[in-house]
This record gives sequence, C-alpha cells and structure tokens, in this order.
Amino acid sequence: MDLADAATVLARARRLVVFTGAGMSAESGVPTFRDALTGLWERCDPQALATPEAFHADPALVWGWYEWRRGAARRAEPNAGHRAVATMAARVPETVVITQNVDDLHERAGSAAPVHLHGSLFAPRCSACAQPAPLPDAGEEPGEGRRLAPPRCGRCEAPVRPGVVWFGEALPEQAFEAAVEAAYRCDVLLTVGTSGLVYPAAEIPQVAARRGGTVIQVNPEETPLDAVCAVNLRGSAARVLPALVRAAWGDAAPT
Ligand code: OAD
Repeated sequence: MDLADAATVLARARRLVVFTGAGMSAESGVPTFRDALTGLWERCDPQALATPEAFHADPALVWGWYEWRRGAARRAEPNAGHRAVATMAARVPETVVITQNVDDLHERAGSAAPVHLHGSLFAPRCSACAQPAPLPDAGEEPGEGRRLAPPRCGRCEAPVRPGVVWFGEALPEQAFEAAVEAAYRCDVLLTVGTSGLVYPAAEIPQVAARRGGTVIQVNPEETPLDAVCAVNLRGSAARVLPALVRAAWGDAAPT
C-alpha cells in the first residue's frame, strides 16, 4: 500500500481514529521526547521531572519545567498536519482524535474535543485534593531550567501540580476507556508521530488492528507499530497529512 491506497481507505472510512504523539507538534516547534539531540528526554532526566516522587522532592523544579513547556506550547501555532486532521474530521462521519500530547494544538486547529490520554498543560490541579486550579497568568512562564514555586490550592493550601500524567501514574480512566472504545469500533486508525514505546497508550493502534481496522502510520522513522500497520508513510506530519487529505478528497486540503 502507498499513499494513494491509504487515501482510498481513508475516503471510505466511516469511523476514523487519529492517534497522535509528539511528532504531530514537532513542526510547530514543540520538542518531542525521544528524537536524538532535540528530544526532551535526551537532555532532561524524566525521573527528576515527570514522576510524583520528583514533584514531592522538588516542586519548584518540576512546576517551573512544566510552566516553561506551557509557555512554549502557548506560543506555538498549529501546523498543516493539525489542520489536516481537523479536515478529516469534517469529512469522515465519525472521527475521534486521541492524543498523547499535552499541548492544545489540535483544539486550536479545529479538532473539537480530542481525548487527552496524558492530560494537559492547561489543566493544573491540587496535588492533594485534586481541585482544579486557575492557570497562572499567561506570559509569566519561566525560561527552560528555571525553578518556580507552584501556587497553593485555594481549598486546602497544598501545592498545585501540572494536570499531566507522570511516569508511574494511571491514565485518566474516562479518557483511556473512550480511547479503547473508539479503537475497538473504528474501521481506520491513523497513527501519527508517536514512537509507540509508552504503554498503555501504545495499545490503542494495536486494539484497532486486532479488531480488523486498517492502521495507517505517518512517521519519518520506523517504530514498533510498523508491524501492525497496513501502510507506513515515511514523512513528516505537516507534509504527509495534507497530501493524504488532498489524495482522499481532492482540493479540500488545508494550507
Ligand atoms: P516520542 O518523542 O517518543 O516519539 C516521537 C515520534 O515522532 C518519533 O517516532 C519520531 O520519529 C516522530 N517524529 C518526529 N518528528 C516528526 C514529524 N515532523 N512528523 C511526524 N513524526 C515525527 O513521543 P511520543 O510517542 O508522543 O508521556 O511519546 C509518548 C509519551 O512519552 C509522551 O506522551 C510522554 C513521553 O514520556 C508522558 O509524559 C506521560
């Protein structure tokens, strides 16, 4: 199968799942986690920044790092790949966008309610009582590596934490259930820009494949998901997804 075949499958889809990872936002300038040289986990230690223990040990280090990332995400703009995903949703009768990304670029490109499997940079909550907390004022995010004391919960005074999933934590139950259900029911699943290494999220394309869905992958590199994909389109999200939309539906491609 090549891009033209993938486009034919997509054009016929009734129930589509688009499953995205950090590579989806790479061309918006948001760094991925595992790409050599540029990946966040290449230059930072996830154990020191992305675990409940790390937050407990040094809340200002962890809060500052996530606030830096929130600033970067806020300043980033959706790319042509995000817009192509929104176009797909307008063309296919039922589309569910499932993302591991904690930015809001799918939403800003017009995908109404993506399922955020790993939470969001824009939904802080109390680390003790889970009460949602207001976002600190925009424009006050620190630079990379700068510590910043987290605000205190308005209800119980415990430190506020980022609304993301950390290593060792369960995924938000409702989001994971919605994702599995959508993967179970879909006829086509498009996996974009994920290394497929982090579980249980990486199960989602596999659920679709096991149920007989056609899995299409967009990624410049090989991934462990290659094995379950009917077609592997080796290229970047911002280049391949608009091409796929054009090939599936003609000139409806976003710019
Ligand atoms: P990774 O950094 O592990 O993988 C990014 C993938 O995107 C790689 O396979 C790249 O080849 C691919 N890629 C890079 N640039 C691309 C582009 N322009 N277009 C398309 N693909 C591109 O990111 P994720 O798979 O999202 O979890 O990582 C999964 C989870 O691991 C994240 O949600 C995060 C991280 O630890 C938590 O923080 C809980």
